[in-house]
Amino acid sequence: MLSAHQLDAWQRDGWLVLPHFKSPAEVAAVRERALQLVEAFDPGEQAAVFSTVRPERLADAALIASAEAMHGFLEEEALDDQGRLRQPKAASVNKIGHALHDLDPVFDAFSHGPALAALAADLGLRQPQLWQSMLIFKQPGIGGEVRWHQDASFFVTHPHTVTTFWFALEDATRDNGCLWAERGGHRGPLRERFVREAGDRLRLERLDDTPWPTTAEAQPLEVQAGTLVCFHGLLPHYSAPNRSPQRRMAYTLHVTDGTAAYSPLNWLRRERLPLRGFV
Ligand code: FE2
Repeated sequence: MLSAHQLDAWQRDGWLVLPHFKSPAEVAAVRERALQLVEAFDPGEQAAVFSTVRPERLADAALIASAEAMHGFLEEEALDDQGRLRQPKAASVNKIGHALHDLDPVFDAFSHGPALAALAADLGLRQPQLWQSMLIFKQPGIGGEVRWHQDASFFVTHPHTVTTFWFALEDATRDNGCLWAERGGHRGPLRERFVREAGDRLRLERLDDTPWPTTAEAQPLEVQAGTLVCFHGLLPHYSAPNRSPQRRMAYTLHVTDGTAAYSPLNWLRRERLPLRGFV
């Protein structure tokens, strides 16, 4: 149950930081499972799966196929000029997505339960729907930058309801690429949307010319492992590259309210797996 003070912070800032939301044992269990998933991930096998797709649409097809699967994606700097891994696979995976919360028993348990259901209700989600999970590695040395964006660009509902649940599985600091966000920026407009057109083409569309905040306006969200950061779908945020020797593993859930209309143009659709809430 959130306090009045926490609800005020949520409304004012567009985010809420909940330290110790997950116990060290829960965090250790998913971190161990994460490393097993990486071990099982075969970058070559996936390339074969997409060999029938035209090269320019490869990335679109890979993303769409991951909506109801658990697929690994490599860091941009993971491959050399010959397309070979520069370093061991365990240090090359950027993320795994996007249905771990439904397909993997360990992540399923981590992603559901009464504590999350109560929190979602407090945040105003009347009928939570868990569309997507991502396990983000932010690898030491090569962990890529994620530029300014709003998560609502990827999950448009009318009205806007998408809420991000961002779990730190390792300490996140300025050095290893913590989140940075614009305090109160969730009251601004949606700048872009990611559209899935006929023929499964994906395209980023500019909706509003409001500029992104400057880096001077960004607040670092440095948090310890086990912390849950919830943030509003319209909150502008980014994360810097990780040039440090420390990995920054995080796990995210993107949740909308089923009472709002989910845009048919969103990239992520559920065709086989049923959509579930937190319980
Ligand atoms: Fe994001």
